[in-house]
Amino acid sequence: MKISSAEFIKSATNPGNYPPPELAEIAFAGRSNVGKSSLINVLVNRKSLVRTSSTPGRTQLLNFFNINTGSFSLVDLPGYGFAKVPLSVKKAWGPMMRTYLETRESLKAVVFILDIRRVPREEDIQMLDWLEEFEVPTIPVITKIDKLKRGQRDKPLKEIAAATGLPKDAFSLFSALTKEGKEEVWERIEAALEA
Ligand code: GTP
Ligand code: MG
Repeated sequence: MKISSAEFIKSATNPGNYPPPELAEIAFAGRSNVGKSSLINVLVNRKSLVRTSSTPGRTQLLNFFNINTGSFSLVDLPGYGFAKVPLSVKKAWGPMMRTYLETRESLKAVVFILDIRRVPREEDIQMLDWLEEFEVPTIPVITKIDKLKRGQRDKPLKEIAAATGLPKDAFSLFSALTKEGKEEVWERIEAALEA
């Protein structure tokens, strides 16, 4: 994918303030600090289009980006599972996410991101259940693979596959640090945009 432009459009919390559903859209979901924003920045070749956080759980909004002057849009979804988030924020997260996944007519696929060093938890499985329930095509990605040597990757990959019920080869392996996997993730996104 050649990127000629990448622009922030707006933040939103509910359908009343989403941008109009005019462009095919790909969203990025995963727990807080998993690397959603970093993945988007690498995909669009920008250091900081999307703010990455040293304070996990800060992004509690849906952030919409317009790519290649109106070709399609990317959405950075709020992360989940961060312990120090206020209860009110935690309670808002579920309905906000469900509503988006259920109603967003321009949504073509969700890139579902897991950390290679972490066993998927309840909220990850919840997210997968919603994606299935609302029939949203899913692109599973395991990120931060630079944290492990090649020979060490198979064991956590097997554990993640077992915990999610997805086959091992459903996952694209990615690193925002080395950019390994970038082309593969783009190919899957392009296929989803064209479907
Ligand atoms: P929230 O917006 O809080 O939900 O987090 P996020 O999922 O957007 O994560 P973000 O991209 O902000 O990354 C969190 C931290 O992980 C940052 O310190 C990143 O530099 C780091 N990080 C992200 N991706 C990678 C990766 O592939 N490899 C390594 N080594 N670090 C990464
Ligand atoms: Mg983020």
